[in-house]
Amino acid sequence: MEGVPSNYPKIGITNPNDVPYLTQLDQADGLIKSDPNAALFIFEEIITKSNRLSPRALYGKARCLDRLSEMNKSNNQLEQAIEAFLEVIALQSHVPDALLKLAAHRCVERLQFRGWNLKAVRVLQSLIKQFPNDLGFSNALGIQYLLVGKNAAAKEVFQTILNQSPENGVASVHLGFILKTTSKDPKDFEKAVQLMRAGIASGEEGTQDARFWYHLGEGLRRLGHEEEANTMYKLAVKKKVFRSFWQRSLYNVDHLRARPVWSKLETGQSENFKLLESNWKTIREEALSVLRDPQKGFEPEGENLKDKGDWGQFELYRQGRMISENCAKTPKTCALIQKIPAAFTNKRGQIKFSLMRPGTHVHAHTGPTNCRLRAHLGLQVPKNGLLRLRVADENLTWVEGQIIVFDDSFDHEVWHEADGDRIVLIVDIWHPDLDDQTKATLSPI
Ligand code: OGA
Ligand code: MN
Repeated sequence: MEGVPSNYPKIGITNPNDVPYLTQLDQADGLIKSDPNAALFIFEEIITKSNRLSPRALYGKARCLDRLSEMNKSNNQLEQAIEAFLEVIALQSHVPDALLKLAAHRCVERLQFRGWNLKAVRVLQSLIKQFPNDLGFSNALGIQYLLVGKNAAAKEVFQTILNQSPENGVASVHLGFILKTTSKDPKDFEKAVQLMRAGIASGEEGTQDARFWYHLGEGLRRLGHEEEANTMYKLAVKKKVFRSFWQRSLYNVDHLRARPVWSKLETGQSENFKLLESNWKTIREEALSVLRDPQKGFEPEGENLKDKGDWGQFELYRQGRMISENCAKTPKTCALIQKIPAAFTNKRGQIKFSLMRPGTHVHAHTGPTNCRLRAHLGLQVPKNGLLRLRVADENLTWVEGQIIVFDDSFDHEVWHEADGDRIVLIVDIWHPDLDDQTKATLSPI
């Protein structure tokens, strides 16, 4: 480029319209982090002098506003930053590709953060038109569709990428993930496993998310490849994807005691548990009244965890919020729960009745978080035949009027081949090692 020494380090992001201002641009770039206001002032000056044609000045302005929006937690500045990034993108052929990609990448991130997902879709679509061979933008569009729940659109995008480039790891893991989590067809499961296995093995950036490892392992096990699943889990522990071979939750806090089965005493809730146990018949009567109710109320488990049989739930609290219309049907149970802050404030947990009919098998699965412990109060427990809850490598069962406590972030599985319906009250409590300050920062699950 004329007037630019060939060893100029930022040559790849520099355009002829930037050249008259190189010294100021470099100086301002150096100030963005430490003094974004001063940098912004310099960039604005160059923008005016260059008739808004210096891409680096426009990009610099966007980064200053971006930085200021973070420092001031200001949506207004965030929106200005987004606008400035969009102005860089709009310069199209006047922007060096490398700079355009930087601006586009950050612009999409910021649009997502602002919740402007449809706009992010449109930006990505126009970038794909401009750079049809850059599959990074196509993958970003697929991920964007997933974020807004448009699974079919996401599927199509990832499939198109794989038609063009079958080795693309990011598209593989995502398409596999969609197939695994949305389809019940065993053929799709087979394909999902192949895709996730190949995608993870690619090692590409964006392929190592714990969700992919989790669903690959689960898919393998459901297809009967237990050994490969176990080998994979061990590797995932080595890579710090999972906390341990048995504990595979995805939303975790560090340094919490981790063991599959707990005694009531260890939870620090023994008084509260005694309260529930001593009222178990009242609680059972309310559960049975919901069952007798012609409108029923129990809903089938909806997470595709059941292998065979019949398993339903009646939810009383979700994410630390009472479900009033259900509590109206079981007022005494909810009044008891209202005496247990570790339960009713638990926004990473649930409180529900669980009804399981004979002949049910629940696939091995893992809860989402290590922030809770799960108490089961036995309400109606058939006595004849196999009725078993496996948590990691320990086996439990239920006794009427008694609470058992386990950590559902550990792999667990249920078999019910006994001779009658089984009903338990499931009460999630906060993990006793969590302090209030940490709890306050946690997102609900
Ligand atoms: C659980 C679970 C099955 C049951 O509580 O996490 O999987 O027995 N329970 O209701
Ligand atoms: Mn479970």
